[in-house]
Amino acid sequence: MGPDSPLLVFSGKSNRPLAERICSYLGIPLGDALVDRFPDGETQIKIQADVRGADVFLVQSTCPPVNDHLMELLIMIDALKRASAARITAVIPYFGYARQDRKDEGRVPISAKLVANLIQASGANRVLTIDLHAAQIQGFFDVPLDHLYAIRVFAKYVRKLDLPDLVVASPDVGGMKTAWSYAKRLNARLAVVEKRRTAPDAVETGFVIGEVEDKNVILVDDLIATGGTIAKAAKLLREKGAREVFIMATHAVFCGRAVEKLRDAPVKEIIVTDTIPVTAQIERLNALTVADLLGEAVHRIHTNKSVSLLFKRF
Ligand code: R5P
Repeated sequence: MGPDSPLLVFSGKSNRPLAERICSYLGIPLGDALVDRFPDGETQIKIQADVRGADVFLVQSTCPPVNDHLMELLIMIDALKRASAARITAVIPYFGYARQDRKDEGRVPISAKLVANLIQASGANRVLTIDLHAAQIQGFFDVPLDHLYAIRVFAKYVRKLDLPDLVVASPDVGGMKTAWSYAKRLNARLAVVEKRRTAPDAVETGFVIGEVEDKNVILVDDLIATGGTIAKAAKLLREKGAREVFIMATHAVFCGRAVEKLRDAPVKEIIVTDTIPVTAQIERLNALTVADLLGEAVHRIHTNKSVSLLFKRF
């Protein structure tokens, strides 16, 4: 890639509003591309601009409908590669297929690794993403991957709330490390809810480790899918005497009965980001944008500046 390679940003259909916000941060227009379906349902792509020799960033979250969005991502990368883009960075604000990331029982796939292979095979030279379900997924890629954390955006927001007696809670043991980094950054205490998943859309909660009585609790998770985990944890925290509970989750996947469960959850506020477009009508739901964070990362990658400043969690 030459030093004068133009910076171009394109988007699939998954999250055009975020791609447009990233472009306004960068002060460039969003690249023109046809993203459609053939009558039989196959994905149809045509890049409508000259990308030869360009440094291209393609924004696409693999959120529902996951398979359609994944195929769009792969086929758009293929189109860009065949149109002689100098470098293609897949900007995947929400990386789906991340939950099957190890073979922890017989006869299961490692879907996260398969998807990483597909993205690389299609021609992506780099990946930029936020809050992977498990940070180790970075290692499934052999191309450079920049993993950003939404904590930068959330922490700023929480500081403005100026909450006394703050505790950061994880809704399960798996999320403890993330909750710990929030607690450290916000100078708060840590608590953990014990959770058992009894079915893909059903969870049971047991006890809470840590002091939450009369505390303002920020319940942190990487994603809300069916809403079971977060709603049950919020309920238990209130039963244990929490003053107010604030839900903070990066990816608003919101499937199944999530909206209903969140509407009924005993919480003061539900704060998510726009890695996935937020269309649900829920009172107390607030979506913060990660556009500036991604925009700054794109700018730094394009100009060969260090991105590591943006990885810092504390
Ligand atoms: C679990 O490991 C994740 O961090 C989330 O807590 C989980 O995937 C959320 O799923 P749901 O909203 O369906 O309970």
